[in-house]
Amino acid sequence: MTNLFDSIQIGPLRLKNRAVMAPMTRARAPGNLPTAEMARYYAQRANAGLIVTEGTVISPEGSGFVDCPGLWSEDQVAAWQPVTQAVHDQGAAIFTQIWHVGRMSHVSLQPGGTAPISATGRPAANCSAFGYLPDGSAGFVPASTPRALETAEIPRVVEDFAHAAENAIRAGFDGVEIHGANGYLVEQFLNGAVNDRTDRYGSQSVENRIRFALEVVDACIVRIGAEHVGIRLSPFGRLHDLGDFEGEEETFLALARALSERGVAFVHIMDQSSRGAPAMPEGFLQKFRAAYQGVLILAGGMDRQKSDAMLAEGLIDMAGFGAAFTSNPDLVERMRHGWPIVRPDPASFYGGDARAYTDWPTWLEQA
Ligand SMILES: Cc1cc2nc3c(=O)[nH]c(=O)nc-3n(C[C@H](O)[C@H](O)[C@H](O)COP(=O)(O)O)c2cc1C
Repeated sequence: MTNLFDSIQIGPLRLKNRAVMAPMTRARAPGNLPTAEMARYYAQRANAGLIVTEGTVISPEGSGFVDCPGLWSEDQVAAWQPVTQAVHDQGAAIFTQIWHVGRMSHVSLQPGGTAPISATGRPAANCSAFGYLPDGSAGFVPASTPRALETAEIPRVVEDFAHAAENAIRAGFDGVEIHGANGYLVEQFLNGAVNDRTDRYGSQSVENRIRFALEVVDACIVRIGAEHVGIRLSPFGRLHDLGDFEGEEETFLALARALSERGVAFVHIMDQSSRGAPAMPEGFLQKFRAAYQGVLILAGGMDRQKSDAMLAEGLIDMAGFGAAFTSNPDLVERMRHGWPIVRPDPASFYGGDARAYTDWPTWLEQA
């Protein structure tokens, strides 16, 4: 029976186990440039078969958080190279999560101080971006009112994703994970409660709602090949002012079928019920699995027992682990041997230096 420690093939890659380090923003990349400390951090966690980096911004307008790394410039490509090298030296694969936050931004983060762009002109109610306060210091600020993209502008944003994907390969990544989850730009199109467009990207039909996501996927595939393109989705997600809408299940199942046809590297589902959102409906994952035949990753409240049970059942192919990886660099070895797992420290998640970032000991170091 398949378990977490069995290897798996993704396209050309043979992964040493089925544990994925889930993408986690740590906001330690001043000037949007990856650092040597980040190389150390990811290399320490390369006991996972696959690392997906923190959300990595595709263009200056895609940013919603200060000090997140980017992948639009030559300097950024060069600065990522030591990170990908360090992870490969430890025998893990590394994909980068390519990210455009859409309306989850603030004018202080936007080039020229203009409105962020989105599928809609309506702001995300009661949501914050991590931008600049009037005194110039960084802090939480209410997400600004966005500007709905003109239809004719959409290809330019799709191109920004494809350009970042191409840069990712040049930086030494094994591929990209398109951030299609958690209420950011791609999901602002997918979610029929947010998307109020009337053009061919509008919410009148399933086909229209998934069009932007698929155009991004296809543009990345053209540049770097389907086996290097994964996507993260959070079906029935409610983060960042998403709402329920008619045809929600069918929207995600149609997307699943389309991704299956394209032979993408993987689909990475984030179950938001571990973060206070309602759970995906009973039986939904089984339906998604039937619609999508490729590698399926599930993250959100996973532990060894849960992942082994779902892997054995064939419901998923890999399990993603988030917060626990922050404070347990050797998480996979801890799970393998049943060693204690240290609780994360949420106060040190975002921003700061090496403390509570690269100084967590492994179990063997501590013992
Ligand atoms: C500090 C932190 C930062 C995160 N940043 C991202 C991110 O950049 N992109 C993303 O898709 N999810 C992000 N997440 C969500 C995680 O990838 C993961 O899905 C979530 O924490 C649930 O998994 P867990 O229960 O194992 O922590 C973040 C989570 C944490 C704790």
